[in-house]
Amino acid sequence: MLSVEDNELLTRTGRGTPMGELFRRFWIPALLSSELPQGGAPAVKVQLLGEKLIAFRGAGGRIGLLESRCPHRHANLYWGRNEDDGLRCVYHGWKFGFDGACMDMPAEPSDSAYKDRVKAVAYPTHEAGGIVWAYLGPAEHQPDFPDLEWTTLPEDHLYVTKRHQRCNYFQNVEGELDTAHVQFLHRELNKNHTFTPQKVFDEAENPEYTIAETPVGMLAIAQRALPDGNNYWRITPFCMPSFTTVPTAPGNRFTFTAAVPIDDTSMWGFTVTWAPRPLTDTELEQDRSGMRLHVLTEPDFTPVANMDNDYLRDFEAMATENFTGIMGIRSQDLPVQEDQDGPICERQGEHLGTTDRAIVAARRLMLRTAKALAKGVEPTQPTAAAAYRQRSFAGEGAGDVAWNVLFDQVQSEAAPVVHA
Ligand code: FES
Ligand SMILES: [Fe+2]
Repeated sequence: MLSVEDNELLTRTGRGTPMGELFRRFWIPALLSSELPQGGAPAVKVQLLGEKLIAFRGAGGRIGLLESRCPHRHANLYWGRNEDDGLRCVYHGWKFGFDGACMDMPAEPSDSAYKDRVKAVAYPTHEAGGIVWAYLGPAEHQPDFPDLEWTTLPEDHLYVTKRHQRCNYFQNVEGELDTAHVQFLHRELNKNHTFTPQKVFDEAENPEYTIAETPVGMLAIAQRALPDGNNYWRITPFCMPSFTTVPTAPGNRFTFTAAVPIDDTSMWGFTVTWAPRPLTDTELEQDRSGMRLHVLTEPDFTPVANMDNDYLRDFEAMATENFTGIMGIRSQDLPVQEDQDGPICERQGEHLGTTDRAIVAARRLMLRTAKALAKGVEPTQPTAAAAYRQRSFAGEGAGDVAWNVLFDQVQSEAAPVVHA
């Protein structure tokens, strides 16, 4: 459990809050590249860490990310004209460049130097892995872009989605790290199930957990003893500020997830399934079906199965198909995260068990780093760009093989031959 004060610290990410300032030391996913399909198209609204922004793409593909209110009299630049080299406010025609500089003030006297003194708030962006990333922190602390393996791979190696989720970002982070819930929340009752680890979970002992800190976060290591003397391992890297790589199916395939605060009661959930090889048609079909870690969404990224329709829960399916009566792994996660004591979980009344070790460790790491930053100690994680290159691991190992042997092996493994 957390004190009221620590829970506030963990969950509040607006500008000026300790956790908000910590988030503003990292590159974070802002929107999908596909939301800005071509130069000259209208701007789109983007809210991050409580800040209302707009994004637009100019000629040549360059992306601007500006505070949405025009510096003049605060009309929303969302209505602006995208003129390829900048965005012009439709109210009085002031025009702003990618860096926020005012390029034109047509209603002011032609000899006025006023425009040189007015600047829109603008943030740096970086496009990689089908995502537009943003850095909302102080320019002097802007780190190199993290070396996430999948952001360097060709498009056909990735499947990228985002969803709107109605809860605080940390409820999602905890869910990603909580390997113990997999055999309950995601349990299939129908033994023709296709969910691979279920058989392992049916036969294995309860997991034992180990935490190993890394230069950018930690590894949550779950070990389950199998009846044949082997172990089933699940190793989930957590990278600050809110990224996890969830162990997916075998076959050298991984799922990256990011929980990005829109404000303190809602978030964007980015999910990327990737492999160091092209994804097969079968794998893409699974991802597109909404049955695994990606949900089907409306055009505004609201999940089709959501709180307003009880996530399409079916009582018959609850008796015969699966534990929840909700179809799809990610759709099963949503009710327990969005309806976990409300959109901001009050953690002071919890009763944590032995399976919550990874969650406790992640909270401590985030709180410790945010408190240090509030005292002026800069975090080291954002600048350890190379350490972001981490794959997860899920699979069996012989009884006498340690987790780090398996983990190191998967980091360097080349792409296996996969038949479609
Ligand atoms: S409010 Fe934008 S130009 Fe006046
Ligand atoms: Fe889950």
